[in-house]
Amino acid sequence: MKRNIIITGGAGFIGSHVVRLFVNKYPDYRIICVDKLTYAGNLANLADVEDKPNYAFVKADICDYDLMCRLMREYEVDSIIHLAAESHVDRSIKDPFTFARTNVMGTLSLLQAAKVYWESLPEKYEGKLFYHISTDEVYGALELTCPEGRKDEVSAHEVYGDEFFVETTKYNPHSPYSASKASSDHFVRAYHDTYGMPTLVTNCSNNYGPYQFPEKLIPLFINNIRHRKPLPVYGKGENVRDWLFVEDHARAIDLIFHRGNVAETYNIGGFNEWKNIDIIKVIINTVDRLLGRKEGEDLDLITFVTDRAGHDLRYAIDSRKLKNELGWEPSLQFEEGIERTVRWYLDNQEWMDRITSGEYEKYYESMYKNR
Ligand code: NAD
Ligand code: DAU
Repeated sequence: MKRNIIITGGAGFIGSHVVRLFVNKYPDYRIICVDKLTYAGNLANLADVEDKPNYAFVKADICDYDLMCRLMREYEVDSIIHLAAESHVDRSIKDPFTFARTNVMGTLSLLQAAKVYWESLPEKYEGKLFYHISTDEVYGALELTCPEGRKDEVSAHEVYGDEFFVETTKYNPHSPYSASKASSDHFVRAYHDTYGMPTLVTNCSNNYGPYQFPEKLIPLFINNIRHRKPLPVYGKGENVRDWLFVEDHARAIDLIFHRGNVAETYNIGGFNEWKNIDIIKVIINTVDRLLGRKEGEDLDLITFVTDRAGHDLRYAIDSRKLKNELGWEPSLQFEEGIERTVRWYLDNQEWMDRITSGEYEKYYESMYKNR
């Protein structure tokens, strides 16, 4: 094999797309998916690659340092693409310790295992890479710069002006989730600066697409609309997110893995800002249409609920560095991406029903009953 790459969190949403892309595109790379299979990890997400000769799965907790050291040696790992994390902001508000454990200590455990193994080799760090996948949430929140009275007349991008997160924006995380991701980013950069480990960090905006756990806005709402359950919109639905189709994120990771400059940071985003309430209406109309209902019939499922604590107002990524230096651009228009996404969830009810039976009901109730 030309390369031996550990992809952590490969059974999750984004990780499964990255694993699929690498396994299929690079038959001469061995891809070792390392995942603890938490509630968010699901081997069904990888069913189409599980029999490929260049793919291996290891059920493991990245916090288990001895095991990480063993995997590095056993598979002679030369690169790590690190996606494993606790990823849901609402859960981090209820249980911050789990986020510190996995996102901070887990990342540190992996970094140290890589350091010890790579430094034991004659060539040391040559040809090695620790690629850490992070989020735009570490930068904090942007202001809405909307002139009063224009909100409904123009698109979100025009409304909210030209202020974006760039790679040099100061870190200012607000939730336990983003604080834990920020901390892990600092550790990764510290391993480069202190030990000379070749590292890379990318910070991406909100992803959407197939295989996302239905606790996140888009799959949760698609499933609720299908079952005609209330759609819990936090606050007034005025918060803005910048949405990127998950396969475009995976393509960016592939490009940066191969051509990105060591020690650099790249922002990844689609220049595709939406106010929550607007994207929710698009989702309702799309689900209604694809289910043969009258478009907009389910708008009355919208239910405004108590806002998320510390809810960041707006995220918006400036990904021009990635475009200018490496030529990456999103391939999909949002309309096409959202249509494909809704269709995928409606066509894959079995996948959704398996996830949303049992434990999920308890989670759902605990999240929404007091709002
Ligand atoms: P996800 O929650 O869908 O998947 C996370 C995966 O990590 C799961 O398979 C889970 O089993 C695994 N995992 C969790 N704890 C683990 C541990 N201790 N050891 C081993 N495996 C563990 O997450 P996602 O949305 O696919 O996000 C993946 C990464 O991308 C995360 O690092 C996240 O911060 C980052 N990110 C996500 C988004 C987004 O919009 N979803 C955007 C930018 C960055
Ligand atoms: O920006 C990147 C981040 O995007 C990733 O780092 C995170 O892992 C990922 O979960 C996502 O975080 P968000 O908090 O932005 O995603 P979420 O889908 O939870 O929420 C999107 C927006 O919708 C947010 O403003 C909160 C709102 N929302 C969410 C849910 C689940 C609601 O109004 N109601 C809901 O029920």
